[in-house]
Amino acid sequence: MSDAPQITENAVDAAVEAALAAIAAAGDSAALKVVRAAHSAEGSPLANFNALIRDLPGDQKAAAGKLVGGARAQVNAAFAAQESVILAAEESAKLEAEALDVTAVPTRWRAGARHPLSLLMEQMSDLFISMGWEIGEGPELEHEWFNFDALNFDEDHPARAMQDTFYVEPVERHLVMRTHTSPVQIRSLLARPLPVYVAAVGRVYRTDELDATHTPVFHQIEGIAIDKGLTMANLRGTLEHMAHALFGAGAQIRLRPNYFPFTEPSAEMDVWVENAKGGARWIEWGGCGMVNPNVLRSAGIDPDEYQGFAFGMGIDRTLMFRNGLTDMHDIVEGDVRFSRQFGMVV
Ligand code: PHE
Repeated sequence: MSDAPQITENAVDAAVEAALAAIAAAGDSAALKVVRAAHSAEGSPLANFNALIRDLPGDQKAAAGKLVGGARAQVNAAFAAQESVILAAEESAKLEAEALDVTAVPTRWRAGARHPLSLLMEQMSDLFISMGWEIGEGPELEHEWFNFDALNFDEDHPARAMQDTFYVEPVERHLVMRTHTSPVQIRSLLARPLPVYVAAVGRVYRTDELDATHTPVFHQIEGIAIDKGLTMANLRGTLEHMAHALFGAGAQIRLRPNYFPFTEPSAEMDVWVENAKGGARWIEWGGCGMVNPNVLRSAGIDPDEYQGFAFGMGIDRTLMFRNGLTDMHDIVEGDVRFSRQFGMVV
């Protein structure tokens, strides 16, 4: 007798028992794979028994074949059963892990907000576009000629003084941070064919300290209309239309004589605004007037043929008294919680 395993019922049963116990203990497909290698694959006891059948005497082959075949079938069935249990469990664990609660409230990025000044500037520009005007632009770093000379400011006009105007070094280049949007008047007249109807919004600079009502960087809207036969009545109608659009149908405007080098006659305009408490008052809104013939001449226009009007007002100030804001700091600080209160419309 050799030491080679004999195909006995006991030995086969023992192999089957061992295989079934290992299969039952396998908790996942990786473990089951290991069990399959040990109890069913090439080199496992049952596979070895199967290989021995070939060498048995002919009259024993059938019985041994039946014994081993039955054992392997039993073990294979157990594998198949355990495998389907494991796969089902793994599949449902995976589905559970990947489950989405479609009713959950999503965590979102908090949306930002547009600054109310941007919204107001856009609204003002849209108003003039709706009247057929064009939108003009000019640089914030401006040549003194556009900012002052062409606008008929004397050489020694106080507004040119260092304490109002940011001069940019080297001073001999005569560059300033524009102190108003009026240089866009000149740029529009030089760049466009007549007649000209241009509105411009933008940033302007003056050497003011930041406090509740001032800021060294603020915004203006400028309007200039040059055509044949324009009068103060056209100016007034335009300003009234603007006041109604921005402050409601009840808004009124009032013009008081004033002086600007680039308009003649010139006026200060006030707007009658109602406040939240039901009261109303005149508020200084900006400057305006008929464009000074000298300004038309510096743009190469014959004042006997063409005339027109111009106006300019502060947008930050407009936002403040229109929306009841009391502190300029809120406008310049850029806290999104401030902007968010205005939504998408001021
Ligand atoms: N540019 C003037 C200012 O800043 C306002 C103005 C504009 C006045 C146009 C008259 C005409 O104060």
